[in-house]
Amino acid sequence: MPLKSLQIIATRFSFPAERVFYCGFAMSDDLHFDTLAIRSGTLRSQFSEHSEALFLTSSFVFENAAQAAQRFQATGEGYTYSRFSNPTVAMFQQRLAALEGAEACLATASGMSAILSCCLGTLAAGDHIVSSHSIFGATVQLFNTVLARFGITTSYVSGANVQEWAAAVRPNTKLFYVETPSNPLTELADIEALKAVAQQAGVLLVVDNCFCTPALQKPFEHGADVVIHSATKYIDGQGRVLGGAILGSEQFIQERIAPILRTTGPSLSPFNAWVLLKGLETLSIRMERQSENALAIARWLESQKGVARVHYPGLASHPQFDLARRQQNSGGAVLSFELDASDDAGRRARAWHLIDHCRVISITANLGDTRSTITHPATTTHVRVTPEARQAAGIGEGLLRVAVGLEDVKDLQTDLARGLATA
Ligand SMILES: Cc1ncc(COP(=O)(O)O)c(C=O)c1O
Repeated sequence: MPLKSLQIIATRFSFPAERVFYCGFAMSDDLHFDTLAIRSGTLRSQFSEHSEALFLTSSFVFENAAQAAQRFQATGEGYTYSRFSNPTVAMFQQRLAALEGAEACLATASGMSAILSCCLGTLAAGDHIVSSHSIFGATVQLFNTVLARFGITTSYVSGANVQEWAAAVRPNTKLFYVETPSNPLTELADIEALKAVAQQAGVLLVVDNCFCTPALQKPFEHGADVVIHSATKYIDGQGRVLGGAILGSEQFIQERIAPILRTTGPSLSPFNAWVLLKGLETLSIRMERQSENALAIARWLESQKGVARVHYPGLASHPQFDLARRQQNSGGAVLSFELDASDDAGRRARAWHLIDHCRVISITANLGDTRSTITHPATTTHVRVTPEARQAAGIGEGLLRVAVGLEDVKDLQTDLARGLATA
């Protein structure tokens, strides 16, 4: 569809006609993902800038006292204060919503603040969460320590076993929380099957889509009620800024999430929103190439001596390979693998040895970067999780996670081979 077909809508914000300030583009529904990633959510100022403007301002001025009163009562259109809304942040929210196929999106300062805000907006003391046990370590901490102090309890089940979810439902269960693929074991959850259980129980299904992004997986198409993002990861894509987002229906976002963000203040900075907008423009091309690189590394690792197991949804050996093919466009860019030894101390020593012999791959806990990264989950991202919970989640001492970037695959293999050969 040619871009001429975009309908230009003037958003006048009560300015006099000669001072019309922004115009946005109402995107036609039949535009494709890559066009939406670049063109949707564009608001243009009176200077007609081509690239999105960065509105680094904490507040907005009013024409007069009456307009200020209107804005504060939210009866007039326009911006008031950047904790509530900001044009650069609004552009990011609109663009991400277009890509996820969501009615609405609100951005947050980080992925964790998105998860917390979602919980604050939907749960109260006495409520219960059912979560897959293979989730990001800080999310487990949030559920087990922070929310638990406010009387919210969590049961953990296998993301892959729908029966366990159904069996864990209690009369006070309000929310199902799942990451798919999970961090770091790439365990998948069948979103459609979970939706069926959630619907029957009258429970909200929340999916953390951080690993796949909408370029590889659209949870709303499979029945998710809410999608969470750590935009820090693939949406930025170059390891520069923190950010997060909550997506859902207009009603959910306005009634449940907006009041929480407005009063608790985990707002995304306009600068970070600007960086993330640029990240979205290259998202699908990065995800495609990084997934290809990850598949090549995963296949190669499977053939290496001393590697007991490789976890990657794009491998035919992955127990949920068929589900991955149904639910995702590719296996994604994160893989993990297990090194063998006779005991835990030996497994940890081998894993650390391999890490310490990397010269190209960065030793850092972040993922989603164009630079490949390696981490030992048991002693970093999941160190605060109890040893029993780690064991239940399958995160052992020999496990390493690699988030594959855009470097040449041959150099990445050489890097990993160095530590493997000498361990
Ligand atoms: C799957 C997943 N969800 C959420 C988060 C939290 O995101 P942030 O670091 O932006 O708070 C992370 C961070 O690594 C993650 O991997």
